[in-house]
Amino acid sequence: MPEVELINIAKRFGKVTASADINLKVADGEYVTILGPSGCGKTTLIRMIAGLIEPSEGKVFIAGKDMTNVPIEERDIGYVFQNIALFPHLTALGNVAFGPIVKDMSEEEVKSVPQRYLEMVKLLDRMGMFPDELSGGEQQKVSLARALASGAKLLLLDEPLSALDARVRMDLRYELRRITKDLGLTVIHVTHDQEEAMTVSDRIVLMRNGRIVESNTPEALYLSPQNLFTANFIGETNLLEGVVKEVLPDRSLVELRDGTVVEAKPSKFRRGDAVVLSIRPERVHPANEGLNSVIIKITYMGTYIRITVESDSEDTMLFDVSTSEDRVYSVGDRVNLIWSKRSGILYPRPPEGVEEAIKLE
Ligand SMILES: Nc1ncnc2c1ncn2[C@@H]1O[C@H](COP(=O)(O)OP(=O)(O)OP(=O)(O)O)[C@@H](O)[C@H]1O
Ligand SMILES: [Mg+2]
Repeated sequence: MPEVELINIAKRFGKVTASADINLKVADGEYVTILGPSGCGKTTLIRMIAGLIEPSEGKVFIAGKDMTNVPIEERDIGYVFQNIALFPHLTALGNVAFGPIVKDMSEEEVKSVPQRYLEMVKLLDRMGMFPDELSGGEQQKVSLARALASGAKLLLLDEPLSALDARVRMDLRYELRRITKDLGLTVIHVTHDQEEAMTVSDRIVLMRNGRIVESNTPEALYLSPQNLFTANFIGETNLLEGVVKEVLPDRSLVELRDGTVVEAKPSKFRRGDAVVLSIRPERVHPANEGLNSVIIKITYMGTYIRITVESDSEDTMLFDVSTSEDRVYSVGDRVNLIWSKRSGILYPRPPEGVEEAIKLE
């Protein structure tokens, strides 16, 4: 069964290190997304798993076998390329039927399987068209149907939904997860869209600069990220710099730059340590007392209103209020902000500075 294991993988293109120190195990039947900013090495990594690029160092195991030097056609995988890459001389149907034909599926399956997946991506009525007669989004859907129809138990998807409209993308995400779970496939799905990663995966592997930063369930990465880059990349957060004033059994006290003391969970830090407090916008609320700040921007988001403030400690902060709330907020208003001590997470202040530590590059 196709579990995937990468051991000490590195890839260098001349002076560029596209992957380094990659150790990753994907279980049989697991749906894993590789998430990270543009250029962080996602495509390079998935191409090494596919056998399209040879690693400079390390080994790739698939289903327990060393596949490091085995070409793509002998790895039995379904692959969606970031740049789509359909066979130009075959129709949509011909493209999707390619796998079933090559695999010698029965005549019945060669007919029914491609149609099933073309129906899933709502392209049955376009099945006779050639790739250059299809829109970019349609080509991407054909590419996805082709990978699913291939019958491979391991699917490697490189930004498989990037060319689609927001609404279609959302529908296909759920469909993709449902079908791959029904079929018991192992999926490695590359994306730079964190919402896509959150909604589709069992586990997210977050990358930065060719390395894995952190890997966990979507919930764990959101609720208790182990480092600052993750806290900032997955969802949105407020990062406040301060110094630990006291660590008590039930809470930590942190003094911000303007002298305001705020609370966070108890922590391993000691008095005097330089820290960064991460607090999600939805956890911050206006109150009669709290961090003094002034509203500098108001954005209507539909179900909620996102308010940006500048606090007296010169930190820019975000908080959300429900659209149904009676109170009216205006730019220039002063507000006091509070949050529960349980919802703030402390990190050591990075020596290179907060901005550098969260930079996407
Ligand atoms: N064939 C190559 N030759 C030289 N450099 C390369 C090559 N392929 C990738 N790189 C470099 O490796 C780094 C990682 O590229 P990669 O395509 O893996 O990023 P990515 O995370 O998939 O980005 P995106 O989200 O934009 O698709 C980049 O700096 C890129 O310029
Ligand atoms: Mg890429």
